Parts: sequence; structure tokens; C-alpha cells
Amino acid sequence: MRQRILGELCQNPGEYVSGKELAEKLGISRVAVWKHIENLKGEGYAILGVSGKGYCIEESYNVLLLDSIKAALSTARLDWKLHLFPELDSTNEMAKKLIREGQAAEGTVIISRQQSRGKGRRGRSWQAPLGGLWFSIILRPELALSEVVVLSLVFALAISRALESFRLFDPQIKWPNDVYINGKKVVGILLELSGELEQADYLVAGIGINVNIDRASLGRGVAKTATSLWEESGTYYQLGEVLLRVLQSIEEYYYEFLENGFEAIRKEYKSRCFHLGKMIKLDTPRGSLEGLNLDIDEQGNLIIDSGDSIECLTTGDVALLAEE
Ligand code: BTN
Repeated sequence: MRQRILGELCQNPGEYVSGKELAEKLGISRVAVWKHIENLKGEGYAILGVSGKGYCIEESYNVLLLDSIKAALSTARLDWKLHLFPELDSTNEMAKKLIREGQAAEGTVIISRQQSRGKGRRGRSWQAPLGGLWFSIILRPELALSEVVVLSLVFALAISRALESFRLFDPQIKWPNDVYINGKKVVGILLELSGELEQADYLVAGIGINVNIDRASLGRGVAKTATSLWEESGTYYQLGEVLLRVLQSIEEYYYEFLENGFEAIRKEYKSRCFHLGKMIKLDTPRGSLEGLNLDIDEQGNLIIDSGDSIECLTTGDVALLAEE
């Protein structure tokens, strides 16, 4: 019912609809309308209520109306199942809970309007306030674990393509799976896997996209290195439209990868990788390494010429070294 109320208010953002009209349209009492609106306000929706005028939502771009996204995905190849929560600690944690409870089919997507303990790669935290897209996709590909990890590169490419379709950005990739715009990070992906070496059981792809967020609310630690679509374009984006394009693009690249392997998209991935052919520093759990980034190989590994040897790396954080 709350999604339906939001749908009604979002038809004309900034304009008032009376409680009576809403109640009649939705077939519930005016008190019930009032209670739902109070709950929505509690969840952070900017809804105004003025006696004699009714209710009005100030802006609609941060409202996710799942029905329209589901309708647009209804003919998709992947059987998408979207679930929206007002607030979670982490969508990845919720996805893993569903997996433990045996309630997680391929294509399940857990979305949260905000996260209180968002998780980043390598044990870091991830700021996830209202205005961003924070979601986790559950997939069950028939692949070995070593092959599944490449999916994080595949998804970074898919998301870059989806963001590029808004025609204001030239998204680039920092290996393995960060998406950058104008030299700053706008998307992060956290892949969590379970299963046997030769057969992955589940894959949770946690995706964070800074959409309508001002840099200050990303936290002091990342304010210099992170950005958002809003910061880079001065435009607010409909979260639903961004989510839809991203899911469609992920689906396209996911099947391309399953059917033809990483090799089929490696060239495109490399063309977006802004540090390829440059001097980089790689921080890994085992220490750091400097050298020339020669390649990204068929398994998605980073190939570095350190001067002494050619190294093949499976994980780490890349930083560009200043050119002399
Ligand atoms: C990174 O460090 O770059 C990865 C960040 C991943 C953040 C997303 S937000 C949705 C999902 N839930 C989480 O707790 N983390 C991922």
C-alpha cells in the first residue's frame, strides 16, 4: 500500500492531493492514509501534510517505485525478484541471511534506501545514505569459484555501460571493479561467494552507486576520492531509472560471460581501464608492488611488469603513480 501511495504522490511532485482523494482511490480510510504517510515520513520520504490541502511529495527522484521497474523487467531473461527495505545494516548481509534460510533464488535483488553498516571491499565500511542505490543481487551460476570472481569485473563493465547511457558521463574502471567518473569513484562492488572450489553455490554481488548524493554526506574519509552522479552532472537522477538500466545491463553482460567467457568482453573492459599501460602501485594483503600495468589477462588478473619480473595479481587496490 505504501508503494501505491508513493506512486500517487509521485505523479505530480510538488502538488497536493487530498487525503479524501487518496483514500477513495486506494480503497482505504483517511486514517489509514494518514498512518501510512506518517510511516513513510519516518522512513525519510519528504512528504508534506497541510490541513485543508492534503499531502504532497517534494521530489520524486529518490523514490523507488518497484512496480514500474518490475513491469519493465517482466520480459527479461533473468527472473528478477526485487525487494525494497527502508533501512538495513547491509544488503549483502540480508542476502546471505536469505541464502541461509533457503529463500534465495537466482535473480533475487535486495535493495535498501539506506544502510547503517554498509560493507566495502577488504573489510572497509561503505557510506550509504538516502539518495544512493544500494543493492545486492543473488546469482547461482554453474561455474567454479575461480571463474565466478571474474563476474565482479563483468559487472563493473556492465554498470559503466549503463551509466554511459545517460550520455553525460564517460565512466572508467579501476581494476578490479570500481567505476570512476572524472577521476573519482562513483560505484563500488563487493562480491561474496560460497560453495566448493569446482562449483560455486551462491554469489552475492553487492553494488553501491552514488546517485543523488552530495559529496559531504559520503564522509570525510572519502570526500576527496569519491563522487556521485549528481556531483558530476548537477542533475538529479530517478533512482528507479538508474536501477532499471543497471539491472538490464548486468543481465546482458552476465549471459554474455556465461555463454562466451570473459574473453568476449575483455577488450571492452580493458578499453575502460584507466590505468592500463601506466605506472601503478598495487596494495595487496601481502604488501605493495610498483610497476607498469601491462595487461588484464583472460582470468581477469592484473599483470604488472615490476622491472625485475612479470607479476600476475588476483587482488589489491590500484593507485596511479605520478608521471615524471
Ligand atoms: C567497495 O569497497 O568498493 C565495495 C562497496 C560495495 C557497497 C555495496 S552497497 C550495497 C552492498 N551492501 C553492502 O554492505 N555493500 C555493498
